[in-house]
Amino acid sequence: MAKVLCVLYDDPTDGYPAAGSPTAYARDGLPRIDSYPDGQTAPTPRAIDFTPGHLLGSVSGELGLRAFLESRGHTLVVTSDKEGPDSVFDRELADADVVVSQPFWPAYLTAERIAGAKNLKLAVTAGIGSDHVDLDAAIAHGVTVAEVTYSNSISVAEHVVMMTLSLVRNYLPAHQLVLDGGWHIADCVSRSYDLEGMHVGTVAAGRIGLAVLRRLAPFDVALHYTDRHRLPADVESELGLVFHESAADMVPHCDVVTINAPLHPETEHLFDDKLLAAMKRGTYLINTARARIVDQDAVRRALESGQLAGYAGDVWYPQPAPADHPWRGMPHHGMTPHISGSSLSAQARYAAGTREILESWLDGTPVREEYLIVDGGGLAGTGARSYAVRADAPDGLPGTARL
Ligand code: NAI
Repeated sequence: MAKVLCVLYDDPTDGYPAAGSPTAYARDGLPRIDSYPDGQTAPTPRAIDFTPGHLLGSVSGELGLRAFLESRGHTLVVTSDKEGPDSVFDRELADADVVVSQPFWPAYLTAERIAGAKNLKLAVTAGIGSDHVDLDAAIAHGVTVAEVTYSNSISVAEHVVMMTLSLVRNYLPAHQLVLDGGWHIADCVSRSYDLEGMHVGTVAAGRIGLAVLRRLAPFDVALHYTDRHRLPADVESELGLVFHESAADMVPHCDVVTINAPLHPETEHLFDDKLLAAMKRGTYLINTARARIVDQDAVRRALESGQLAGYAGDVWYPQPAPADHPWRGMPHHGMTPHISGSSLSAQARYAAGTREILESWLDGTPVREEYLIVDGGGLAGTGARSYAVRADAPDGLPGTARL
């Protein structure tokens, strides 16, 4: 029998939504989504024990896993307490077979923790982005790493579009002015522009990056991208995409840059002082991928000097971000906590996908190839396409173990 340790974010401050209350949620139900834009099917667990549209990612939501696991005789431990050696996470990890966590509240599986977790065989990311797991250590210890590929890619793409428009049009300061009782039009519009005609570039055009490009195309912008893998020629011509060999080649052409690559040794601190200086003055940078793809202090400096006109995203390091995190007070930012991939819509998909992965793994049947990041002692599935490990990195580049 397996012990599954699930690390989830805390319940809402005013309590978990009351079961059965007709007004507990803003809407009734969710649109039905059976497949994603590339034809991949949405998660297909044999059953679910939760109501799509309910809060699943917090401690009391338990990702809807308890009835399923306990009915099969497995143990489920759920906690939000993940920091420090006396945390519930560290205590329970000692004999856990499976760890499940979400990038929004990551259970950092460092090399030391993996070495000490003698029973650990599977780390599941309920969502996308497994950089909170030291992939090199997972490979060395034979731990399988899986994530629910595509489950929240469109959720993030929508957030990127929202943040792009909100920065370019100066939405947040204008809204704040309304909350403050003011009506000073010039204060709002003196930093407000139209997106139309601008050049927008994405670093990575995978599931999220391509969805961002598709969603922005109707705004009559010029679209650019860079990626390890070039998109098919028909997609490039349909969207009028300009391909660049590297981020350094692309950014001088852009007014808006969006980062949509995983964090791994090739992308860590890619946006440093040098790359930021290569951008046009007044570029907007949107990063919903991972905080450590940018140099935190360099971003702050670029906002203060005016090199960047705005920065937005939802990813921080570490998470949760401390109250005195330097990004909270920097000028012209539109940051949210890490929420873009955890809408109630996304939660229903990644909870179902987590169950699908656990069903396969507990039954000894293969986990879907597209869900795999590490398996069989190496990068596998989506991991082989989208990630790198330290062994692949040029000398001196830090790797995932620095978490
Ligand atoms: P994906 O696997 O479909 O796409 C990743 C793309 O990055 C691939 O096309 C890959 O070739 C490209 N890539 C990898 N290394 C690169 C490099 N060095 N230079 C250029 N391109 C590179 O993944 P998806 O769904 O698009 O997600 C991307 C990332 O977004 C995730 O790994 C995660 O870090 C982040 N994410 C953030 C969420 C949030 O809530 N803020 C939720 C979901 C994902």
